[in-house]
Amino acid sequence: MGTVGGKGAVLGIETSCDETAAAVLDRDGRVLAETVLSQFADHAPYGGVVPEIAARAHLRYLSTQVSHVMRTAGLAPADLAAIAATTGPGLIGGLIVGCQFGKGMALGAGKPFLAINHLEAHALTARLPGLTDGGAPFPYLLMLLSGGHSQCIAVLGVGRYVRLGSTVDDAAGEAFDKVAKLLGLGWPGGPALERLAAGGDPDAFPLPRPMLRRPGCDFSFSGLKTAVAQLAAGPLSDGRRADLAASFQHAVTDVLADRASHAMAMMRERHPEARLLVVAGGVAANAAIRTALTHAAEAADFRLVAPPVRLCSDNAVMVAWAGIERLRLGIADGMDTAPRPRWPLAELAGSSGSGRR
Ligand code: KG4
Ligand code: ZN
Repeated sequence: MGTVGGKGAVLGIETSCDETAAAVLDRDGRVLAETVLSQFADHAPYGGVVPEIAARAHLRYLSTQVSHVMRTAGLAPADLAAIAATTGPGLIGGLIVGCQFGKGMALGAGKPFLAINHLEAHALTARLPGLTDGGAPFPYLLMLLSGGHSQCIAVLGVGRYVRLGSTVDDAAGEAFDKVAKLLGLGWPGGPALERLAAGGDPDAFPLPRPMLRRPGCDFSFSGLKTAVAQLAAGPLSDGRRADLAASFQHAVTDVLADRASHAMAMMRERHPEARLLVVAGGVAANAAIRTALTHAAEAADFRLVAPPVRLCSDNAVMVAWAGIERLRLGIADGMDTAPRPRWPLAELAGSSGSGRR
């Protein structure tokens, strides 16, 4: 087996939360095959991700997902240049499954193993050559808005990340999920809340805008959530529920646009050549948020790069791509690599460099 297009290809594996995903990219970052299996239905009855169920599902589905992308790409393990798997941060059970599977495959095929930080994978997605002309150049500002993380990060190079600000309480996606629950919507709440908000008046409820105009670019969402909880405690007509959803989304959007403006000013001060604001994470799928960030970027003489929705939420294309970026720098990881449920981006600095480890 093996195709010319597949020479130097990298397999990516993602199992850090509730998506079992695999992808094969060629050496230039072209996607040869990709698949994402959301365990959504397995967790929905519990209103959130149940770690034990997630780990068992990854174990059940991962090898089929990998076989599928390898077959679609027309490649055998021996054709790959390397195997990349997310080894943190995330839920330990899923990380063990992905990390061990990746190492096993790398060992069997005699190929390098790449241990990928999930946040780094989100951070580098904008550099996929197909997304912006030739891929986003360093340095750029990243706003990572997912279910577990809300951070503004100066992306200076592979393995070189400086956190400019982050949430002091809930992550943006977590706030969407909690408010969706208060409004009686299913899980995950973000997409359902956005749909409900579409039929509501965003100015109906004067909700707080935590952190607005504060120095720096930290976020806070718990006060906003509490305000919604008080309003949702009493009976609400369907129309008022939609108004509340729209008002909440409007408040979050205002806060994110303000925080982005501050973050761009901070970025410009430290790195005057920076021109790009990149959004990543599931919340970046929200159309109102994308629009507000586009305007905030224009006002600051930045350009917004928003990857397509399928690359904003968890996927394995970003893992394979982060692997390609690291491989190009001659980085590989040992078979003694252990999964890390907590793995801040700042700790990557010491793990990347010029030599193989
Ligand atoms: O990045 P992601 O897929 O998974 C991680 O958390 O790593 O993000 C999932 C989060 C969930 O909290 C979900 O409710 C939120 O992203 N989300 C949205 C939308 N789509 C997903 N939030 C607001 N609007 C959306 N359209
Ligand atoms: Zn993620």
